[in-house]
Amino acid sequence: MILGSHDLPGPIVFLAPMAGISDRPFRSLCRSLGASAAVSEMLTSDTRLWHTAKSRNRLDHHGEAGPRIVQLLGNQPDALALAARANVSRGADIIDLNLGCPAKKVCNNAAGSALLADEALVERLLLALTAAVRVPVTLKMRLGIDREHINADRIAVIAETAGVAMISVHGRTRACGYRGQVDLDGIARVVDAVRIPVLANGDIASPEDARAVIQRTGAAGVMVGRAAQGRPWLPGQIRAGLSDLPIPPAPVGADLGRLIRAHVTAVHEQYGSERGLRIARKHIGWYLEHNRPDVDRRPFLAITDARGQLAALAALFGESAASQMKPGRDPNKNPSDPRGEMPHELLDACCSRPQRKWPTGVDGHSLPTRGIRQDRDG
Ligand SMILES: Cc1cc2nc3c(=O)[nH]c(=O)nc-3n(C[C@H](O)[C@H](O)[C@H](O)COP(=O)(O)O)c2cc1C
Repeated sequence: MILGSHDLPGPIVFLAPMAGISDRPFRSLCRSLGASAAVSEMLTSDTRLWHTAKSRNRLDHHGEAGPRIVQLLGNQPDALALAARANVSRGADIIDLNLGCPAKKVCNNAAGSALLADEALVERLLLALTAAVRVPVTLKMRLGIDREHINADRIAVIAETAGVAMISVHGRTRACGYRGQVDLDGIARVVDAVRIPVLANGDIASPEDARAVIQRTGAAGVMVGRAAQGRPWLPGQIRAGLSDLPIPPAPVGADLGRLIRAHVTAVHEQYGSERGLRIARKHIGWYLEHNRPDVDRRPFLAITDARGQLAALAALFGESAASQMKPGRDPNKNPSDPRGEMPHELLDACCSRPQRKWPTGVDGHSLPTRGIRQDRDG
């Protein structure tokens, strides 16, 4: 699949944007282990909020392999256009618009999936974005605001006409939240409505799921979210399965321990030890839940310092904290090979400290530093 200057080979399996989860370390890890691409956590299009720690982290794509996909959240055409241009000037390869987030605090501001109710506004937003940047603009949406108002196929036609390059669809409505079955026929109607590629999203947790969803919907590929939590190798495994290649086994034992420590180290470096400790706890919980259900997770969740977290992981996996990962193939260097092994370079890819170059302004305007409300996750 070609997206702008990026030719994504083989079966297409994206890591879904997940606020609070698909940050730079997790995206880099999933890419290193075979994901075709990884969409960033949603970033507010209100540039006045970009000085906050949350937005600054979300603006950070240092060292990430392309395509760098920045997802924007907003409901003002001019603000979205400005935010898109600013991100492209910082290296974004693709701009994605969020029409999928059902969270109340997002929808109360008429953004995310609430926008699906206003097709004329969606058209204005997309036209503003495609006019603002030369890189591809993509769209992520749900099927509609509720079962009585399913309009994803109409939104898809509006998007294609506005010049959008790819659409991903979570096969639920905003009202469904995450409940109930994914409506694959609803996704298929979106696929049938347009010629641009459509990725199917929702509850995909294995190569078999992905194959069945693609067969049923005709989608160009899939997007995987929650199932990758604690299993960053899953998108790569799904790509291998869809290619009829041997599925690389999930890491176990010392390999798993080294991978988790590399990820946790990267999280500590990204956020600093205090916030990093709390964010790493979530990931450690998922790693243990999925890969070491025999281990009592509570002591890990009680650890209150970053070094202690790493030491406890090293002790659990019987490794010295300084040990390195085994050399292996780096799928970033050969992106057509979806078989992610545990690459030695992963430690670098995942743990390199970002060279922070925070902007003094956007398009020449300086960013305020005080008195601005913190934005919140959806
Ligand atoms: C914690 C969390 C955060 C999310 N954040 C975003 C987001 O920032 N932008 C977005 O478009 N979707 C977001 N989503 C929705 C996912 O991208 C995805 O559409 C949804 O989880 C369904 O896919 P899955 O069943 O594979 O998880 C989020 C989902 C979760 C669980």
